Amino acid sequence: MKAALAIVLLAATWTAGIGVAVATGPAAAAQAALTPAPATQAPAGQAAAPTLPSGYAGNDTCSVCHSDKTDGIKGTPHGQATNPRTPAAAHGCESCHGPGQAHVDDDAKGHIRRFAQMKPAEINQTCLACHNRGDHAGWEGSAHERREVNCTTCHSVHSPKSTTRQLVKANQTEVCATCHRLQVTKTERAVAHMPIREGKMSCSSCHNPHGSINNVKALRVGSSVAESCVSCHAEMRGPVLWEHAPVRENCATCHDPHGSSNDRMLVVRMPMLCQRCHIATKHPSSVYDNAAITVNKSNRMFGRSCVNCHSNVHGSNHPSGQFFMR
Ligand code: HEC
Ligand code: HEC
Ligand code: HEC
Ligand code: HEC
Ligand code: HEC
Ligand code: HEC
Ligand code: HEC
Ligand code: HEC
Ligand code: HEC
Ligand code: HEC
Repeated sequence: MKAALAIVLLAATWTAGIGVAVATGPAAAAQAALTPAPATQAPAGQAAAPTLPSGYAGNDTCSVCHSDKTDGIKGTPHGQATNPRTPAAAHGCESCHGPGQAHVDDDAKGHIRRFAQMKPAEINQTCLACHNRGDHAGWEGSAHERREVNCTTCHSVHSPKSTTRQLVKANQTEVCATCHRLQVTKTERAVAHMPIREGKMSCSSCHNPHGSINNVKALRVGSSVAESCVSCHAEMRGPVLWEHAPVRENCATCHDPHGSSNDRMLVVRMPMLCQRCHIATKHPSSVYDNAAITVNKSNRMFGRSCVNCHSNVHGSNHPSGQFFMR
């Protein structure tokens, strides 16, 4: 008996715990801080308010004929009436599909917003009514917006295939791969790539698919490629006593951010990597030249090549590190 009671109590606490998590989880709190409440919002718990604005039919009416949709949405963030900013706490189905009384009256022949028939800009406006801050502030003018990609290209409200973020495919990489096969393939290269296929990173670790404020390649952080890279690779941030100009300029001059068939994701092999710029140095930079600074010319050709000696190629803090040797 006692054990059974304990289980019942435990279950009750759990349920309460989950209830609280849904209402005030960090994601909800963050979102609440970032996004303004929609104009149409009603206080929490009044999803089925008895007095509806004219033209609206209410969720209960919709569920008479579309119970699959009404039930389906309950398990998603949009169905959490305890969060005052969700459609569930406002006009439910009609927050997105528009007032539906006419649709009900005309025996469901039309008069309802059908996403499959809407223009990209109209779809985006529907969603941006609530999702217009924080991560989404850079949407307008982003490459995706300009090229008529819309929210439902990547997200599904009713039948998401991913476990998080309601994506149209099982995971983010698959979504991006439908249009950006080249970049995704690079992240799968055998020699060197960002740990995306290993699941430690995703495209959105570096990019915001909703655009970014600076909109340099939709990068999440910084207003240049280098700023974005050093947000994780802090050891390359600088400033250093002896700067190497191309490193300050753009990491992508030497590294492909998505991956490559060379060590360290280098865009070309050593020594060619350096010789694109350094063709006339005090010591001949070409491996075919005589009169080298060292008799052992081979270490300019093999392995790490130039960086066998110029090991601090990202810059040096050593008083005599002007040649990046220490
Ligand atoms: C009396 C039953 C009934 C009610 C009530 C009803 N619908 Fe419908 N709805 C239908 C039928 C039947 C169709 C299919 C009509 C068609 O294919 O032209 C439909 C179509 C739709 C579509 C378009 C589907 C598509 O394939 O593009 C949407 C969206 C929709 N309803 C939303 C709603 C919403 C929101 C409500 C509540 C305001 C609602 N419906 C209430 C019967 C109903
Ligand atoms: C957050 C916005 C949103 C809410 C809330 C919403 N819908 Fe939808 N609805 C969509 C979008 C977007 C689509 C296009 C398909 C998709 O994304 O899953 C859609 C598609 C549909 C369709 C077309 C059939 C299909 O699966 O493509 C019907 C019917 C429908 N919704 C009914 C409803 C009903 C009934 C409710 C209320 C329970 C509702 N919707 C709530 C955004 C919404
Ligand atoms: C009435 C306001 C409202 C509208 C309209 C709306 N949303 Fe949302 N949406 C929310 C709220 C609130 C959340 C929960 C966010 C949170 O608290 O983290 C949410 C969550 C989401 C999430 C995150 C799901 C997850 O698993 O984290 C996605 C994706 C999303 N919405 C897409 C859409 C799309 C696409 C549309 C347009 C078809 C849309 N929303 C329209 C209010 C809205
Ligand atoms: C190119 C694909 C793509 C498009 C287009 C897109 N999203 Fe997303 N969205 C994503 C991905 C991927 C994530 C997950 C990002 C992550 O987990 O870091 C996401 C996350 C979200 C989230 C949850 C996290 C957050 O940032 O609050 C919401 C809400 C959301 N998207 C809404 C929208 C809306 C609204 C639109 C249209 C204006 C839209 N998305 C357009 C791919 C897309
Ligand atoms: C439906 C096709 C489509 C999908 C899916 C898609 N994109 Fe794009 N993306 C585009 C188009 C079109 C452009 C613009 C290309 C151009 O202008 O050359 C673009 C551009 C970009 C850019 C360059 C931005 C800039 O400012 O130059 C990045 C980064 C990007 N997408 C990332 C992503 C990520 C990450 C995903 C997956 C979450 C994704 N895309 C999914 C179509 C798509
Ligand atoms: C380590 C950070 C990082 C990751 C992870 C990443 N990218 Fe990028 N991406 C960049 C940078 C930096 C650029 C700009 C490169 C340049 O200017 O040469 C870029 C450029 C792009 C472009 C624009 C290409 C062009 O020529 O304008 C697309 C599209 C893109 N990335 C898609 C993706 C996709 C899809 C994924 C996931 C498979 C992804 N990226 C993962 C950093 C990253
Ligand atoms: C979101 C964090 C993040 C950002 C942003 C980022 N990286 Fe990385 N980078 C990583 C992680 C994680 C690894 C893998 C480290 C490991 O496996 O020890 C890595 C590894 C690398 C490697 C070594 C690859 C190898 O084969 O050993 C290089 C080179 C690199 N990053 C360059 C860049 C460049 C260039 C940029 C900017 C375009 C960048 N990273 C942006 C997290 C990041
Ligand atoms: C002039 C070409 C060049 C530029 C520009 C450059 N790198 Fe590198 N990077 C290299 C070379 C060469 C290596 C391999 C060094 C070695 O093998 O010792 C390397 C290695 C790395 C590694 C792996 C480090 C390790 O210890 O294995 C990371 C991370 C990295 N670079 C990040 C960056 C970042 C971030 C930037 C921009 C701030 C950048 N690189 C700019 C040439 C460059
Ligand atoms: C995109 C062009 C570019 C690439 C690629 C490049 N460098 Fe440089 N490097 C420069 C510039 C510009 C300077 C500054 C020259 C100056 O101040 O006169 C510099 C300076 C140097 C210096 C110091 C020389 C001096 O006179 O102060 C060394 C050593 C050096 N680079 C080695 C390398 C090595 C090794 C590589 C390959 C890993 C490499 N560089 C790749 C452009 C490049
Ligand atoms: C065996 C060691 C070694 C190797 C390998 C090596 N260097 Fe050097 N490099 C040096 C030394 C030592 C100096 C300093 C010369 C001085 O003090 O005047 C130097 C100086 C330089 C300078 C600055 C002086 C100038 O003439 O502009 C550049 C640029 C440079 N090296 C590029 C390269 C490149 C590119 C490679 C690969 C093709 C390379 N080095 C391979 C040892 C090496």
